[in-house]
Amino acid sequence: MNSSILITGGAGYIGSHTTLALLQAGHEVVVLDNLSNSSRESLTRVAQLAGRAPQFVEGDICDAKLLQSVFARQPIQAVLHFAGLKAVGESALKPLAYYRNNVSGTLQLCQAMGDAGIYHLVFSSSATVYGEPSLVPIGENCPVGIPTNPYGRSKLMAEELLQDLARSDNRWRIAVLRYFNPVGAHPSGLIGEDPRGIPNNLLPYISQVAVGKLKELAVFGDDYSTPDGTGVRDYIHVVDLANGHLRALEALERRPGLGVWNLGAGRGYSVFEMIRAFEKASGLSVPYIIAPRRAGDVAECWADAAKAEKELGWNVKHQLSDMMNDAWRWQSLNPDGYRSANDLDNIV
Ligand code: NAD
Ligand code: UD1
Repeated sequence: MNSSILITGGAGYIGSHTTLALLQAGHEVVVLDNLSNSSRESLTRVAQLAGRAPQFVEGDICDAKLLQSVFARQPIQAVLHFAGLKAVGESALKPLAYYRNNVSGTLQLCQAMGDAGIYHLVFSSSATVYGEPSLVPIGENCPVGIPTNPYGRSKLMAEELLQDLARSDNRWRIAVLRYFNPVGAHPSGLIGEDPRGIPNNLLPYISQVAVGKLKELAVFGDDYSTPDGTGVRDYIHVVDLANGHLRALEALERRPGLGVWNLGAGRGYSVFEMIRAFEKASGLSVPYIIAPRRAGDVAECWADAAKAEKELGWNVKHQLSDMMNDAWRWQSLNPDGYRSANDLDNIV
């Protein structure tokens, strides 16, 4: 039997694109997801695109017995760990849920992996761990900051847990990937980001304004010390991000210990530049108002992505126009995300 890759959170936004990339690269894939922020429809569409389906296990990474049975059922070579909660605002209201899913969940997963003799792990971290950067671009050796919310702290704690684990036992090979701002969708328009409720992040919000689901965008501050006064971020196409995970998996075969890599495009765009680029891709206008700064936002944040290029052999292939065209295709083909397809299933 070929060994498989386990993808926790593989039904979610980044996980589904990575599941597709792994299937297309010829890997066997097992997805473990509790569907708390996703639907099975994403995996149905992944199967449609790949021509074959991943195995799917519905369940929670905090369930030690379930993890044990997944690892006992078939040989697993490595784990890509996406499962977790990610809404910054919600994390301040429900901190325990964030520490349970993002910290305890990672701990349970590592425990079960070690018990099963599996030591290759790729972890989804975030540029949020840098806090307020003292200079840009941000290299991996920039000191981690003091995250301003429980979500950010849970990611930092999980990173620290993994550092200690790797130091304690040299069989572990761990890639900590610090994502900058993932956006866009698969060019087919079949899979993409499907936020529940009102989106927190910029591009999903812009998309929903463009299709008329939301009235207008609130631009959070136009008085930052940036070229046009609005916040600057490093947006990375989700397909490039997914491919970064394949390169990280390969790197684990070559290098022992724990490595940290930024996955970003290495350049920043402002909120106004994002609005204009989306308008160009969609042919629609995006009404906006200027609102006060959002608490916890930094003025600018973009990656020095040279380490990933040098050590993982990875760089981005998609431009801002690709991000916008693909985000728009996904939004216009799926105005209600995966729910439209589920509704059709229910009617049939
Ligand atoms: P997502 O919510 O779309 O995907 C996460 C998946 O994990 C969902 O399918 C959800 O149902 C599942 N899940 C959550 N808790 C679980 C649990 N306890 N057990 C099993 N499954 C569980 O989010 P995403 O955008 O795809 O993010 C994936 C990872 O990347 C997360 O860890 C997130 O913190 C990290 N990240 C995301 C971004 C971003 O902007 N999207 C940026 C930096 C880091
Ligand atoms: C946010 C989170 C961060 C998380 C990241 C990816 C906060 C404070 N930070 O980062 O922890 O890792 O998402 O999930 O929530 N903007 C608007 N109007 C909007 C939405 C955003 O003007 O309605 C602006 C923001 O001020 C920012 C830029 O757009 O300048 C990008 O925002 P967003 O997509 O939320 O990402 P981050 O702020 O980088």
